[in-house]
Amino acid sequence: LHVAVLMGGWSNERPVSLMSGEGVARALESKGHRVTRIDMDRDVAMRLAETKPDVVFNALHGSPGEDGTVQGMMDLMGLPYTHSGLATSVIAIDKELTKQALVPYGIPMPGGRIVDTEELYRKDPLPRPYVLKPVNEGSSVGVAIVTDEGNYGNPIDPGAKGPWQDFDRLLAEPFIRGRELTTAVIADRALMVTELRPKSGFYDFDAKYTDGMTEHVCPADIPDEIAEACREYALRSHRLLGCRGTSRSDFRWDDEQGLAGLFLLEVNTQPGMTPLSLVPEQAKHVGMDYPDLVEAIIAEALA
Ligand code: DAL
Ligand code: MG
Repeated sequence: LHVAVLMGGWSNERPVSLMSGEGVARALESKGHRVTRIDMDRDVAMRLAETKPDVVFNALHGSPGEDGTVQGMMDLMGLPYTHSGLATSVIAIDKELTKQALVPYGIPMPGGRIVDTEELYRKDPLPRPYVLKPVNEGSSVGVAIVTDEGNYGNPIDPGAKGPWQDFDRLLAEPFIRGRELTTAVIADRALMVTELRPKSGFYDFDAKYTDGMTEHVCPADIPDEIAEACREYALRSHRLLGCRGTSRSDFRWDDEQGLAGLFLLEVNTQPGMTPLSLVPEQAKHVGMDYPDLVEAIIAEALA
């Protein structure tokens, strides 16, 4: 096949996407496919039209790329592409829209609400501890956990500097103490649960992409009931949103509360494919190596 690997772009996750894209491109070459690497710029439509690939592997993360814009463009061009389509991407990139789509179907997600920065400077939107996050970023870009100690400064303290200041649509959610879990869905099958144990702080950008900063326990050492629930919620969410190829559902679990303490945080429609990423790691555990995973994702795009 001739595969165009779309990567880079100008989102905050550009460096992550370049790592994912290069990994995918090399895997495809190892399987004998012809690969054209495309670092997305404003002329991407023209470049895709000239390249005339059989299929596009979308290795973009963040906006644009994960949010439906690029998907809509490829729909119009009649180009088959990997991962989720336009409507799914628009919903899944937005953590608030995702809640509106999934909570009515019984998927437990944390409460919380959209806050504007002006409001934030006057009062706490929720009792502490709470999490402030941009509604539509990935890789924990812009995420702050606001505690009484205020580990990122206190947003209502005038002059406080925090990562939230660069984003205009922010979501505040109650902080769920306990553990960080994730489950991959590949080819309409939920694989397993990985627990992420950062050596310090939380599973933020550095803990995600610096080797040695987070222990991955795969499969997680958790009760069967919790593992089963993660797999069920991940697969149902994947289907309810209409995801294609692969998705990865991230959870927090308050292990003092049993099943009632398990919450889905979000569904990632363009999960990372870097050397430290979680979908390739789970795939490996079920006997699917990285190049096989890439080919399986492409097979679903062409099905
Ligand atoms: N947003 C990153 C790439 C992930 O979900 O893996
Ligand atoms: Mg994400």
